[in-house]
Amino acid sequence: MELPPRPKLFDFHGVSMTHYFTDNWENIQNFQARPDDILIATYPKAGTTWVSYILDLLYFGQTAPERQTSLPIYERVPFLESDFHIIPPGTELADKLSTSPRLIKTHLPVQLVPKSFWEQNCRIVYVARNAKDNAVSYFHFDRMNQAHPEPGDWNNFLQRFMDGKMVFGSWYDHVTGWWEKKQTHSKILYLFYEDMVEDTGRELDRLCSFLGLSPSAEEKERVRGGVKFDNMKKNSMANCSTDPVMDFKISPFMRKGVCVCLCARERMRERNKH
Ligand code: A3P
Repeated sequence: MELPPRPKLFDFHGVSMTHYFTDNWENIQNFQARPDDILIATYPKAGTTWVSYILDLLYFGQTAPERQTSLPIYERVPFLESDFHIIPPGTELADKLSTSPRLIKTHLPVQLVPKSFWEQNCRIVYVARNAKDNAVSYFHFDRMNQAHPEPGDWNNFLQRFMDGKMVFGSWYDHVTGWWEKKQTHSKILYLFYEDMVEDTGRELDRLCSFLGLSPSAEEKERVRGGVKFDNMKKNSMANCSTDPVMDFKISPFMRKGVCVCLCARERMRERNKH
């Protein structure tokens, strides 16, 4: 399939964006959330797919196991603001979901989230990742994702990252904007990618308690096993390998799934042992 040229960044209500996330803006802003919708909100490359997969398994792993082998994760959890023209826009995919709850993904900074999510008092799971790993992951993603602007070389990319000239704007504004919102909105669970790497089981418990779910120990273990990095990486329904805009010859979607601060802490522990 011939893909269009890479899009350009432009300023959109004070946030850098490309047309793929603004073309459908009227429908995005008028999107009708339902009270039981769960919004998964992140800055790009913070672990969105990981949390999406966890939630999908928690809600539908037992009741609709066929989803796991027949539907890629980006169809099970529509990307609200996306309008890539080769598949229906995220708002349309979300409207068509027959599941309850609907799991919906967004990368929008908090101030641009459609108002119906607040009016309906929906639960929101936000995931933040440390800036360094987030930037490295974003760089490799932009290399392989034809729907994003060319990343250029690392030095230029890093400067742009620090200047907030990325699709979905500044990492700093994103993580702090959502953090501030969480102080006044009790239905936001703010997770950290690093905590999930350190102890997935513990974060799974936090998620379940936020969502009011009480899976059996066996069920939790099944979810934890399914979402391990190596298992997700080889699962074509979770690793985005069927996504038409990604070029896996350049870089895989799931690269390393590591966290520099935890690696540094492990190295310190090893050193202190000797
Ligand atoms: P890396 O590029 O550092 O490997 P998103 O889904 O928001 O685009 O985030 C993608 C990042 O999350 C990638 O990081 C990917 O490897 C990581 N990731 C996805 N699933 C993971 C898992 N099960 N465990 C750890 N990291 C995971």
